Amino acid sequence: MQTIHGAKDTRSFAIRKATKEDIPAVMTVNLRSLPENYWYGFYEYILLNWPESFLVAEVNGVVVGYAMSRVEDTGDPLLLGLIDDKGNPLVRGWQEPKKAGHLVSIAVLREYRGRGIGSALLAETIRVMRDNYKVDSIFLEVRVSNTPAINLYKKFGFRVVRRIPHYYRDGEDAYVMVLRLKPTS
Ligand SMILES: CC(C)(COP(=O)(O)OP(=O)(O)OC[C@H]1O[C@@H](n2cnc3c(N)ncnc32)[C@H](O)[C@@H]1OP(=O)(O)O)[C@@H](O)C(=O)NCCC(=O)NCCS
Repeated sequence: MQTIHGAKDTRSFAIRKATKEDIPAVMTVNLRSLPENYWYGFYEYILLNWPESFLVAEVNGVVVGYAMSRVEDTGDPLLLGLIDDKGNPLVRGWQEPKKAGHLVSIAVLREYRGRGIGSALLAETIRVMRDNYKVDSIFLEVRVSNTPAINLYKKFGFRVVRRIPHYYRDGEDAYVMVLRLKPTS
């Protein structure tokens, strides 16, 4: 993958694949941005198994954002974008199981938000999931109160398919959002 340079405004950034050396900086961004935090070995596990979709965003050579995803075999038609939130089929003639990309975590440091970095990370995640990992869909969980993230996902065509009560440790509900990548008929 080539490094992608954002052009939304004059404050430029670059998106590239992460390396093992980036993990401490990614952990710092995560700790400063989200209450959902992970141990070093989890990042390493994701990077080793799905290196194409572990991305970092850099400004002047400093990591200011990341997105990491995994690929999962699933027979859940909701996660595959095969039925809508009412259970109506959207696709005919499918067989289980299929592959779904799971956006595990995405974050941009607060002082670098609102300049297109989150969009660039998500756009590249979608491209890699479709072209490299050949998934049928991408799904994610998001806090029901997290309007900026929900708007970001909607902007790329994700739709809410499920609400999971008390999904987060503090008791907040999650929306599951899905983007279908393969044709629906
Ligand atoms: C969600 C997040 C990654 C977005 O990153 P970002 O670099 O600010 O995103 P962008 O500048 O590309 O904005 C993309 C879209 O997100 C939405 N958005 C961003 N900030 C927003 C805000 N404060 N309020 C409402 N919508 C917002 C908009 O739809 C925006 O599109 P637009 O610029 O065309 O209006 C960032 O807010 C973040 O790191 N939040 C904390 C971590 C987090 O919540 N991660 C998601 C966990 S599920």
